[in-house]
Amino acid sequence: MPEDVARRIARIAVTSLLAVSGLVAVGRAQTDVQGTSLDPQNFVQIERGRYLAVAGDCASCHTVPGGPPFAGGRSIETPFGVVVGANITPDRETGIGAWSDELFVSALREGKGHGGSLLYPAMPYPYYTKVTERDALAIRAFLNTVQPVRNRVVSNQLPFPFDVREEMKVWNALYFKSGEFKPDAAKSAEWNRGAYLVEGLGHCGACHTPKTTLGGDDLKQAFEGYALQGWFAPNITNDNERGLGGWSVADIVSYLKTGHNAVGAATGIMAEEISLSSSHMTDADLTAIATYLKDLPGQTNSRPEAVSASDPAMVAGGAIYADECSACHGMDGKGIPFLFPSLAGSPNVRSTDPTSLVRVLMEGARSVATAGEPTSPGMPSFAWKLNDAEIAAVLTYVRNSWGSSAAAVTADQVKSVRAAMLGSVNR
Ligand code: HEC
Ligand code: HEC
Ligand code: HEC
Repeated sequence: MPEDVARRIARIAVTSLLAVSGLVAVGRAQTDVQGTSLDPQNFVQIERGRYLAVAGDCASCHTVPGGPPFAGGRSIETPFGVVVGANITPDRETGIGAWSDELFVSALREGKGHGGSLLYPAMPYPYYTKVTERDALAIRAFLNTVQPVRNRVVSNQLPFPFDVREEMKVWNALYFKSGEFKPDAAKSAEWNRGAYLVEGLGHCGACHTPKTTLGGDDLKQAFEGYALQGWFAPNITNDNERGLGGWSVADIVSYLKTGHNAVGAATGIMAEEISLSSSHMTDADLTAIATYLKDLPGQTNSRPEAVSASDPAMVAGGAIYADECSACHGMDGKGIPFLFPSLAGSPNVRSTDPTSLVRVLMEGARSVATAGEPTSPGMPSFAWKLNDAEIAAVLTYVRNSWGSSAAAVTADQVKSVRAAMLGSVNR
């Protein structure tokens, strides 16, 4: 093929790929990536990197909603204070345009930034360390093509003593295990792909794995559920009681693709993860993720005793349920597939920690609308209709009906979620 034709095709291909990604203005893609991307090898790498950046959900922390892609500035709440996502556009002064590839890979996989400074694990390098060098370089190649934005970000807004970066040395020594993902030869290629995504780029454990007091993963309970940012990320092992034991691979794929399946619906920070990240992943990758999750045994198969049907909270809760909830969720708790989630048999409903449930009742929820599932039915807010004791009673009822059993929810638990929510509104 004559060289000028090849160049033209390459340019059109890059431009349309980047336009599809919705992340850069088409005109810029044409002028800016010219130097590097005309080599067809290169735009395959860039498109791969774009996909991987979506799978890693880099935008969730590095893009302010509605703001310029990857320009930083989004606050991330940690139990120790606020850390702000950095500017990772190719701007040379305030972004990472002047960084070498080696430095980029070391930030992503080792948590070591400019001048060897230690990053805070609010940047999920403890998971990204599993990413292969080839994938890391593809992400870099893609980031090189986004619009450079001048935006100086001060990431470290932690209070003393956590503002001392050097302390991360101790943290890293305790909790950070550096090293690329090692496939398990005894397992299928699909399982290994799932493990790579869940343990690495997808950083699912950042939310779903319980933490130690210093915020490191408690690996003895990997993926068994953790409360953060006012939500509870439930157990996603194959545990029958609290986890995904009752969900098929297809149920998990549907949830990650659309935010819904026949029994569940995603809200809050998981809804955001789905709309920014997993809904854009291929069915093959989602199936791999589900295959891996279904193979995680979990270990809390014991079932707590159900609260007795004659308990006053159950009696009051049952009456409130019939009046306020059954129209949508059904007297049998089964809801309507893909419209109103089933509360019967829902691992989320019988979670060890009811934080998300209280929150959904208080705030109401509108589930995620994705390309695959564009309508998003709503759950009304009951914060002003039901008092703390009533919310506690109706949740105790749904957690202990239709074959479920779980600890009663107390009015004090509801009160503290209410207080935390008011606190975050006033901030
Ligand atoms: C859960 C939030 C979160 C996600 C997801 C995330 N980051 Fe970060 N990232 C941060 C935070 C916070 C910082 C600043 C950390 C610090 O200064 O200690 C950071 C820092 C960085 C830095 C260092 C920049 C600098 O100027 O020091 C790079 C590079 C980076 N992230 C790349 C990525 C890439 C690529 C992805 C996706 C694969 C990603 N991040 C996903 C939160 C996140
Ligand atoms: C930013 C935090 C966060 C990240 C990252 C995250 N999750 Fe979640 N996830 C949650 C929360 C919170 C919920 C509960 C949502 C709700 O109550 O509707 C949830 C719910 C789920 C559920 C439904 C469980 C149920 O019983 O209803 C599945 C499955 C799931 N996540 C899988 C994943 C996978 C796989 C990944 C990684 C690719 C992941 N999550 C990454 C926070 C997160
Ligand atoms: C108008 C219809 C409607 C009514 C009335 C309603 N809900 Fe819901 N509910 C929904 C929808 C829709 C969702 C899913 C929201 C989402 O995906 O974010 C939901 C979600 C939930 C969830 C979260 C389920 C999960 O797996 O994460 C719980 C718990 C819940 N509702 C309990 C109740 C209770 C208790 C009442 C009565 C006090 C009630 N709902 C009344 C429509 C309703």
